[in-house]
Amino acid sequence: MDAWIRLQDVAGRLSAISRSHRYDPYQIFDWPESLPADAYWMSPELMTCHSTAVWDELTEAQRVVLSHHEAASFFSLNVHLIRDLIGEVTHRIYSTRYPGLSEFFHDFIAEENVHAWFFATFCRRYGRLYPARSVSLGSAPTDGMLADIAVFGRILIAEELCDFFNMKMADDDRLPPIARQVNRVHHEDESRHIAFGRQIMRALCEGAGGRVDPEGLAAVGGYLARYVTTCLRSFYNPQVYADAGLPDPTGLRARVIRDPGREAAHRAGLGRTVRFLDRIGLLDPAQVRW
Ligand SMILES: [Fe+2]
Ligand SMILES: [Fe+2]
Repeated sequence: MDAWIRLQDVAGRLSAISRSHRYDPYQIFDWPESLPADAYWMSPELMTCHSTAVWDELTEAQRVVLSHHEAASFFSLNVHLIRDLIGEVTHRIYSTRYPGLSEFFHDFIAEENVHAWFFATFCRRYGRLYPARSVSLGSAPTDGMLADIAVFGRILIAEELCDFFNMKMADDDRLPPIARQVNRVHHEDESRHIAFGRQIMRALCEGAGGRVDPEGLAAVGGYLARYVTTCLRSFYNPQVYADAGLPDPTGLRARVIRDPGREAAHRAGLGRTVRFLDRIGLLDPAQVRW
């Protein structure tokens, strides 16, 4: 089946599921006054210092406190990614380039709006909403099919990485129930967004064959390879280390980011996504700095 026809078919089925699974975000969460100070709020294996020399130097109490700030930082990153992707999808909601996708885009935006709300609520109740940190990725195409490949590629990379975290934490009974629930509810919606994201990337790359210059497509591949690295690095936030009371937060960030123990964690988070983008002929895995 043609990838575009299949895309419309997939989007229609995902919209139907989305509408029959709609929930009231203001009712389903039971937000406690406070969360236990002696529990992990983020799975230790997912924290930025895990598997490094720094981790071995931290006391158990320091690891637990750091997990509280890393949980707020992870949810803050989600809020900023969502704001970015809602803008991009809204911009394309009635684009004539995507006949038959407007309904899905409406569902997608509605769900992302809810996700931003529950992530921000967690941050504001139990920690802080960390500000977005600006990053320079080099130029990306600003219009046409190449711009869309860059945008939907970025969305897919961000969603697959966050989902890797959500899936692990949804089932981690060391975490307070509200932390598990936020991760689980997000994962359930994101499984649809990711199914759509992979299909639209297949369709765009297939449609690009012969219609855009191969050099332009290769440039978007390079841009997305840089985005993979940027996404992974955005987790290492010196403000988080400072809030956890750790000395020399900037130096600590430099140490953990350089630690060879982190590469396996990065590959676990985005290795599958990079292999997928390679399979559809977009991204050369050799360009990714893990
Ligand atoms: Fe989301
Ligand atoms: Fe999403």
